[in-house]
Amino acid sequence: MSDVFSLNGKTAIVTGASSGIGAGAAISLARQGADIIMCARRVPEMEAVAEKIRALGRRVLCVKLDQRDYSAVKKFIREDVKNFGGADILVANAGVSARQQIVETTAEEMDRIIDTNYKGTVYILQETAKLMISQKRAGQNIIIVSSVNAFRPLRSQAVYTGTKSALEALMRCLAADLSEAAPKIRVNSLAPGATLTELGGKKTPEEYEKAKNANKPNIPLGRIGLIEDMGDPIAFLASDAARYITGATLLVDGGLSLRMDL
Ligand SMILES: NC(=O)c1ccc[n+]([C@@H]2O[C@H](COP(=O)([O-])OP(=O)(O)OC[C@H]3O[C@@H](n4cnc5c(N)ncnc54)[C@H](OP(=O)(O)O)[C@@H]3O)[C@@H](O)[C@H]2O)c1
Repeated sequence: MSDVFSLNGKTAIVTGASSGIGAGAAISLARQGADIIMCARRVPEMEAVAEKIRALGRRVLCVKLDQRDYSAVKKFIREDVKNFGGADILVANAGVSARQQIVETTAEEMDRIIDTNYKGTVYILQETAKLMISQKRAGQNIIIVSSVNAFRPLRSQAVYTGTKSALEALMRCLAADLSEAAPKIRVNSLAPGATLTELGGKKTPEEYEKAKNANKPNIPLGRIGLIEDMGDPIAFLASDAARYITGATLLVDGGLSLRMDL
Protein backbone atom coordinates (compact mmCIF):
# COMPACT_ATOMS: atom_id res chain seq x y z
CA MET A 1 0.00 0.00 0.00
CA SER A 2 1.38 3.45 -0.85
CA ASP A 3 1.98 5.80 2.06
CA VAL A 4 0.36 9.14 1.20
CA PHE A 5 2.20 10.77 4.12
CA SER A 6 5.61 9.75 2.76
CA LEU A 7 8.01 12.40 1.43
CA ASN A 8 10.52 9.91 0.05
CA GLY A 9 12.32 11.29 -2.98
CA LYS A 10 11.26 14.89 -2.22
CA THR A 11 13.44 17.85 -1.30
CA ALA A 12 12.19 20.60 1.01
CA ILE A 13 13.53 24.12 1.52
CA VAL A 14 12.97 25.32 5.10
CA THR A 15 13.69 28.97 5.85
CA GLY A 16 14.60 29.96 9.40
CA ALA A 17 15.67 26.39 10.19
CA SER A 18 18.37 27.34 12.71
CA SER A 19 15.91 27.15 15.63
CA GLY A 20 12.30 26.79 16.71
CA ILE A 21 9.49 25.87 14.35
CA GLY A 22 11.79 25.81 11.29
CA ALA A 23 14.19 23.38 12.96
CA GLY A 24 11.22 21.23 14.05
CA ALA A 25 9.75 21.32 10.53
CA ALA A 26 13.07 20.29 8.97
CA ILE A 27 13.28 17.27 11.29
CA SER A 28 9.62 16.25 10.77
CA LEU A 29 9.98 16.51 6.97
CA ALA A 30 13.22 14.50 7.08
CA ARG A 31 11.55 11.80 9.22
CA GLN A 32 8.94 11.45 6.48
CA GLY A 33 11.74 10.92 3.95
CA ALA A 34 12.57 14.37 2.52
CA ASP A 35 16.05 15.73 1.88
CA ILE A 36 16.41 19.21 3.37
CA ILE A 37 17.81 22.56 2.26
CA MET A 38 18.01 24.87 5.25
CA CYS A 39 18.71 28.59 5.36
CA ALA A 40 19.11 31.16 8.13
CA ARG A 41 21.78 33.57 9.36
CA ARG A 42 23.23 31.46 12.23
CA VAL A 43 25.32 28.67 10.70
CA PRO A 44 26.45 26.76 13.86
CA GLU A 45 22.82 26.44 15.04
CA MET A 46 21.78 25.25 11.57
CA GLU A 47 24.63 22.72 11.50
CA ALA A 48 23.39 21.25 14.82
CA VAL A 49 19.95 20.67 13.25
CA ALA A 50 21.60 19.31 10.08
CA GLU A 51 23.44 16.67 12.16
CA LYS A 52 20.09 15.31 13.39
CA ILE A 53 18.82 15.18 9.80
CA ARG A 54 21.94 13.36 8.56
CA ALA A 55 21.44 10.85 11.40
CA LEU A 56 18.03 10.10 9.83
CA GLY A 57 19.87 9.19 6.61
CA ARG A 58 18.81 12.24 4.59
CA ARG A 59 20.83 14.64 2.46
CA VAL A 60 21.04 18.15 3.85
CA LEU A 61 22.40 21.52 2.75
CA CYS A 62 22.85 24.53 5.06
CA VAL A 63 23.05 27.96 3.47
CA LYS A 64 23.76 31.19 5.34
CA LEU A 65 21.12 33.67 4.21
CA ASP A 66 19.60 36.93 5.35
CA GLN A 67 16.26 36.84 3.55
CA ARG A 68 16.00 40.65 3.57
CA ASP A 69 18.72 40.67 0.89
CA TYR A 70 16.96 40.27 -2.49
CA SER A 71 20.08 39.43 -4.51
CA ALA A 72 21.21 36.90 -1.88
CA VAL A 73 17.78 35.20 -2.06
CA LYS A 74 18.05 35.03 -5.86
CA LYS A 75 21.52 33.49 -5.60
CA PHE A 76 20.29 31.01 -2.96
CA ILE A 77 17.45 29.65 -5.12
CA ARG A 78 19.13 29.97 -8.54
CA GLU A 79 22.50 28.50 -7.48
CA ASP A 80 22.43 26.65 -4.12
CA VAL A 81 18.99 25.08 -4.48
CA LYS A 82 19.43 24.28 -8.19
CA ASN A 83 22.87 22.71 -7.61
CA PHE A 84 21.39 20.52 -4.85
CA GLY A 85 18.87 19.20 -7.40
CA GLY A 86 15.94 21.62 -7.01
CA ALA A 87 13.11 21.51 -4.49
CA ASP A 88 9.57 20.12 -4.29
CA ILE A 89 8.45 21.78 -1.04
CA LEU A 90 9.00 25.22 0.48
CA VAL A 91 8.35 25.98 4.14
CA ALA A 92 8.54 29.79 4.33
CA ASN A 93 8.97 30.04 8.08
CA ALA A 94 11.65 32.62 8.96
CA GLY A 95 10.37 35.54 10.97
CA VAL A 96 10.98 37.92 13.85
CA SER A 97 8.67 39.31 16.50
CA ALA A 98 8.53 42.06 19.10
CA ARG A 99 6.15 42.77 21.93
CA GLN A 100 5.69 46.52 21.75
CA GLN A 101 2.88 49.01 21.69
CA ILE A 102 2.83 50.65 18.27
CA VAL A 103 3.38 54.07 19.86
CA GLU A 104 6.68 52.80 21.28
CA THR A 105 7.92 51.10 18.11
CA THR A 106 10.81 52.81 16.33
CA ALA A 107 11.07 53.11 12.56
CA GLU A 108 14.10 50.76 12.65
CA GLU A 109 12.10 48.14 14.52
CA MET A 110 9.18 48.44 12.08
CA ASP A 111 11.62 47.97 9.17
CA ARG A 112 13.21 44.93 10.82
CA ILE A 113 9.85 43.20 11.30
CA ILE A 114 8.29 44.18 7.96
CA ASP A 115 11.45 43.56 5.92
CA THR A 116 12.01 40.11 7.45
CA ASN A 117 8.48 38.78 7.79
CA TYR A 118 6.85 40.26 4.72
CA LYS A 119 9.38 41.45 2.13
CA GLY A 120 11.91 38.68 2.80
CA THR A 121 9.19 36.03 2.60
CA VAL A 122 7.90 37.52 -0.66
CA TYR A 123 11.44 37.35 -2.11
CA ILE A 124 11.70 33.65 -1.17
CA LEU A 125 8.21 32.91 -2.52
CA GLN A 126 8.85 34.69 -5.83
CA GLU A 127 12.11 32.87 -6.55
CA THR A 128 10.76 29.49 -5.42
CA ALA A 129 7.63 29.91 -7.54
CA LYS A 130 9.82 30.61 -10.59
CA LEU A 131 11.89 27.51 -9.82
CA MET A 132 8.84 25.27 -9.30
CA ILE A 133 7.14 26.51 -12.48
CA SER A 134 10.29 25.74 -14.49
CA GLN A 135 10.84 22.33 -12.85
CA LYS A 136 7.30 21.12 -13.69
CA ARG A 137 7.40 18.42 -11.00
CA ALA A 138 4.27 16.72 -9.66
CA GLY A 139 3.22 17.43 -6.08
CA GLN A 140 5.11 20.71 -5.61
CA ASN A 141 3.75 22.82 -2.78
CA ILE A 142 4.42 25.78 -0.50
CA ILE A 143 3.61 26.25 3.19
CA ILE A 144 3.80 29.72 4.72
CA VAL A 145 4.13 29.94 8.51
CA SER A 146 1.82 32.75 9.61
CA SER A 147 0.38 33.08 13.14
CA VAL A 148 -2.77 32.78 15.20
CA ASN A 149 -2.30 36.57 15.56
CA ALA A 150 -3.61 36.94 12.01
CA PHE A 151 -7.01 35.69 13.25
CA ARG A 152 -7.35 37.24 16.66
CA PRO A 153 -5.67 40.29 18.20
CA LEU A 154 -3.04 39.75 20.87
CA ARG A 155 -1.82 42.73 22.85
CA SER A 156 1.33 44.69 21.93
CA GLN A 157 2.02 42.89 18.66
CA ALA A 158 0.41 45.20 16.09
CA VAL A 159 3.26 45.53 13.59
CA TYR A 160 4.11 41.81 13.77
CA THR A 161 0.43 40.88 13.42
CA GLY A 162 0.09 43.10 10.35
CA THR A 163 2.87 41.17 8.62
CA LYS A 164 1.23 37.84 9.45
CA SER A 165 -2.18 38.98 8.16
CA ALA A 166 -0.45 40.13 4.99
CA LEU A 167 1.11 36.67 4.60
CA GLU A 168 -2.32 35.07 4.94
CA ALA A 169 -3.69 37.29 2.14
CA LEU A 170 -0.60 36.60 0.05
CA MET A 171 -1.04 32.85 0.57
CA ARG A 172 -4.57 32.90 -0.85
CA CYS A 173 -3.49 35.00 -3.89
CA LEU A 174 -0.57 32.67 -4.57
CA ALA A 175 -2.77 29.58 -4.24
CA ALA A 176 -4.99 31.00 -6.99
CA ASP A 177 -2.11 32.16 -9.20
CA LEU A 178 -0.04 28.99 -8.89
CA SER A 179 -3.05 26.78 -9.65
CA GLU A 180 -2.44 28.00 -13.21
CA ALA A 181 1.00 26.34 -13.30
CA ALA A 182 1.30 22.95 -14.97
CA PRO A 183 1.36 20.81 -12.92
CA LYS A 184 -0.52 22.84 -10.33
CA ILE A 185 1.36 24.05 -7.25
CA ARG A 186 -0.50 23.98 -3.92
CA VAL A 187 -0.05 26.86 -1.45
CA ASN A 188 -1.24 26.75 2.18
CA SER A 189 -0.36 28.28 5.51
CA LEU A 190 0.15 26.95 9.00
CA ALA A 191 -0.81 29.38 11.76
CA PRO A 192 0.89 28.43 15.02
CA GLY A 193 -0.46 29.45 18.39
CA ALA A 194 1.83 30.22 21.33
CA THR A 195 4.84 27.95 20.76
CA LEU A 196 7.90 27.38 22.93
CA THR A 197 10.77 28.76 20.79
CA GLU A 198 13.43 31.48 20.86
CA LEU A 199 11.04 34.04 19.36
CA GLY A 200 10.39 35.66 22.73
CA GLY A 201 14.07 35.29 23.80
CA LYS A 202 16.44 32.39 24.58
CA LYS A 203 15.65 30.08 27.52
CA THR A 204 17.92 28.03 29.78
CA PRO A 205 17.12 24.25 29.77
CA GLU A 206 15.48 24.70 33.20
CA GLU A 207 13.30 27.59 31.97
CA TYR A 208 12.39 25.52 28.88
CA GLU A 209 11.27 22.51 30.97
CA LYS A 210 9.26 24.75 33.30
CA ALA A 211 7.47 26.48 30.40
CA LYS A 212 6.89 23.16 28.63
CA ASN A 213 5.20 21.58 31.64
CA ALA A 214 3.29 24.65 32.80
CA ASN A 215 -0.46 24.32 33.02
CA LYS A 216 -2.05 26.85 30.63
CA PRO A 217 -5.71 27.25 31.55
CA ASN A 218 -6.10 29.93 28.85
CA ILE A 219 -5.31 27.39 26.12
CA PRO A 220 -8.10 24.80 25.69
CA LEU A 221 -5.59 21.93 25.25
CA GLY A 222 -3.94 23.08 28.48
CA ARG A 223 -0.30 23.61 27.49
CA ILE A 224 1.96 25.71 25.28
CA GLY A 225 2.76 24.42 21.76
CA LEU A 226 6.04 22.62 21.06
CA ILE A 227 8.01 22.71 17.83
CA GLU A 228 7.09 19.10 17.04
CA ASP A 229 3.40 20.08 17.35
CA MET A 230 4.03 22.34 14.31
CA GLY A 231 6.49 20.13 12.37
CA ASP A 232 4.18 17.14 11.97
CA PRO A 233 1.22 19.16 10.58
CA ILE A 234 3.67 20.92 8.22
CA ALA A 235 4.82 17.49 6.99
CA PHE A 236 1.14 16.54 6.47
CA LEU A 237 0.45 19.69 4.39
CA ALA A 238 3.58 18.96 2.32
CA SER A 239 2.52 15.38 1.59
CA ASP A 240 0.16 13.80 -0.89
CA ALA A 241 -2.31 13.28 1.97
CA ALA A 242 -3.07 17.01 1.51
CA ARG A 243 -3.35 16.74 -2.29
CA TYR A 244 -6.81 18.42 -2.41
CA ILE A 245 -5.90 21.25 -0.02
CA THR A 246 -4.84 24.63 -1.37
CA GLY A 247 -5.48 28.21 -0.24
CA ALA A 248 -6.17 26.91 3.27
CA THR A 249 -4.92 27.83 6.72
CA LEU A 250 -4.20 25.08 9.22
CA LEU A 251 -4.58 26.67 12.65
CA VAL A 252 -2.38 24.75 15.12
CA ASP A 253 -2.98 26.61 18.37
CA GLY A 254 -4.31 24.12 20.94
CA GLY A 255 -7.63 25.94 20.66
CA LEU A 256 -6.22 29.36 21.67
CA SER A 257 -8.30 31.14 19.04
CA LEU A 258 -11.49 29.72 20.61
CA ARG A 259 -11.06 31.88 23.69
CA MET A 260 -14.02 34.16 24.32
CA ASP A 261 -12.81 35.78 27.55
CA LEU A 262 -10.47 38.57 26.44
N1 LIG B 1 6.81 30.93 18.67
C1 LIG B 1 5.55 31.32 18.54
O1 LIG B 1 4.80 31.40 19.53
C2 LIG B 1 5.00 31.60 17.16
C3 LIG B 1 3.61 31.79 17.04
C4 LIG B 1 3.09 32.06 15.79
C5 LIG B 1 3.91 32.15 14.68
N2 LIG B 1 5.28 31.98 14.83
C6 LIG B 1 6.10 32.09 13.61
O2 LIG B 1 6.93 30.96 13.47
C7 LIG B 1 8.07 31.33 12.70
C8 LIG B 1 9.32 30.77 13.38
O3 LIG B 1 9.49 31.41 14.63
P1 LIG B 1 9.97 30.64 15.94
O4 LIG B 1 8.93 30.82 16.97
O5 LIG B 1 10.42 29.29 15.59
O6 LIG B 1 11.19 31.56 16.42
P2 LIG B 1 12.78 31.40 16.30
O7 LIG B 1 13.23 30.18 17.02
O8 LIG B 1 13.33 32.71 16.70
O9 LIG B 1 13.00 31.15 14.74
C9 LIG B 1 13.01 32.19 13.80
C10 LIG B 1 13.84 31.75 12.62
O10 LIG B 1 13.83 32.79 11.63
C11 LIG B 1 15.16 33.02 11.21
N3 LIG B 1 15.34 34.39 10.77
C12 LIG B 1 15.06 35.54 11.45
N4 LIG B 1 15.42 36.60 10.72
C13 LIG B 1 15.94 36.14 9.56
C14 LIG B 1 16.49 36.75 8.40
N5 LIG B 1 16.58 38.08 8.28
N6 LIG B 1 16.92 35.96 7.39
C15 LIG B 1 16.85 34.61 7.49
N7 LIG B 1 16.35 33.96 8.55
C16 LIG B 1 15.90 34.73 9.58
C17 LIG B 1 16.01 32.71 12.44
O11 LIG B 1 17.31 32.33 12.05
P3 LIG B 1 18.65 33.23 12.22
O12 LIG B 1 18.46 34.05 13.46
O13 LIG B 1 19.70 32.19 12.32
O14 LIG B 1 18.72 34.02 10.97
C18 LIG B 1 15.29 31.51 13.02
O15 LIG B 1 15.74 30.32 12.42
C19 LIG B 1 8.07 32.85 12.60
O16 LIG B 1 7.63 33.23 11.32
C20 LIG B 1 7.07 33.27 13.66
O17 LIG B 1 6.45 34.47 13.36
C21 LIG B 1 5.83 31.69 16.04
